[in-house]
Amino acid sequence: MPNSSIAQTPPMGWNSWNMFGTNINESLIKEITEAMIAAGMYGVGYEYVVIDDYWHGGRDAQGNLYPDPVKFPSGMRALSDFIHSKGMKFGIYSDAGTSTCGGCPGSMGYEQQDASTFADWGVDYLKYDYCYAPSDRGSAFKLYSNMGRALSSTGRPFVYSICEWGCRRPWLWGSEAGGHLWRTTGDIIDSWSDSQDFPNFHGIETIGFLLQQGLEAYAGPCKWNDPDMLVIGLYGEGQIPGEGCTDIEYRTQMSLWCILAAPLMVACDIRSMNETTLETLTNPEVIAIDQDSLGRQGFRVYQRNQLEIWMKPLAFGDLAVGLFNRREERHEVSAFWSDLGIRGYFRVRDLWRRSDLGVFKGEVSSDVEPHGSVLLRFYPADE
Ligand code: GLA
Repeated sequence: MPNSSIAQTPPMGWNSWNMFGTNINESLIKEITEAMIAAGMYGVGYEYVVIDDYWHGGRDAQGNLYPDPVKFPSGMRALSDFIHSKGMKFGIYSDAGTSTCGGCPGSMGYEQQDASTFADWGVDYLKYDYCYAPSDRGSAFKLYSNMGRALSSTGRPFVYSICEWGCRRPWLWGSEAGGHLWRTTGDIIDSWSDSQDFPNFHGIETIGFLLQQGLEAYAGPCKWNDPDMLVIGLYGEGQIPGEGCTDIEYRTQMSLWCILAAPLMVACDIRSMNETTLETLTNPEVIAIDQDSLGRQGFRVYQRNQLEIWMKPLAFGDLAVGLFNRREERHEVSAFWSDLGIRGYFRVRDLWRRSDLGVFKGEVSSDVEPHGSVLLRFYPADE
């Protein structure tokens, strides 16, 4: 079972993979940490700085993992101390198989030893991948449970992130294996649509609108479905496939990921992001939808002609409602109370425009840009 003192709300942070891939080192990680604080991201909840694949040097004669001495000359403990000195938390990556997806050493057979190493380094978050591992669900459950137990035996609280791409329906067993979150799909690409060149990877539209359907029943505090990282601000410059998205499409990813109660792991180069990216990532009222204490994952309540309405019940009877337009032209989207399953009066606030729209009963409508979203918060009102 997962450590229940952490991940009560979906984890938030930054991960090195989508932008930098193999091109990581300790100066970069330190600069990103400092940039997250300077940009106010830490202030709105982004907490974990996660180093993905390709940090490894190898295993020493005793079988202990060590980092690449050229990329991380001061070692992982020093980097972890640096991140902690700024108040943030440190995440790392390994794999349940014999190698990571990038061909670095995997943790199979070394679970206890690696968990101890990570605890000694002061790691707070482990992303655990599934390359070079047996494909059946029983083996996956066993291997993820082995590491789950090893992490908890260290006595150090770890957020445990399962990454087997949804192939073995981890929402059914991830929590029992000790996980706090589990990827539900193959990797996201930096694109609105899918690409024929990468059939196992998907754009924002497929992952967000299609592949999360019905998974809301399995999410809650300490157990989150993970539709993969935010591609916001990559603009096609990351090392993952994709030609980039428009700012409107990136904002739609943020709106939908928050309704989905998704982990919010940023991927872009924080050191050089533009104002629009910063605004998309740090709107506190939008983040509050994702981080709501009720911990419910939202779901679709209406779909016709590529217009969609999603809702997420919030604590104290509030409601988040997302109006989405997947079409190529502007369109009005109307949310009817009958679709939302509610009655009576609600005060409605537009969270991106940061303005109150008034008190409504029965229906609220908004014009939505192509590939755009309007994110509303409903507060129960007397009249
Ligand atoms: C897999 C994961 C990615 C990333 C890479 C690293 O593809 O799904 O998120 O961690 O491995 O090699």
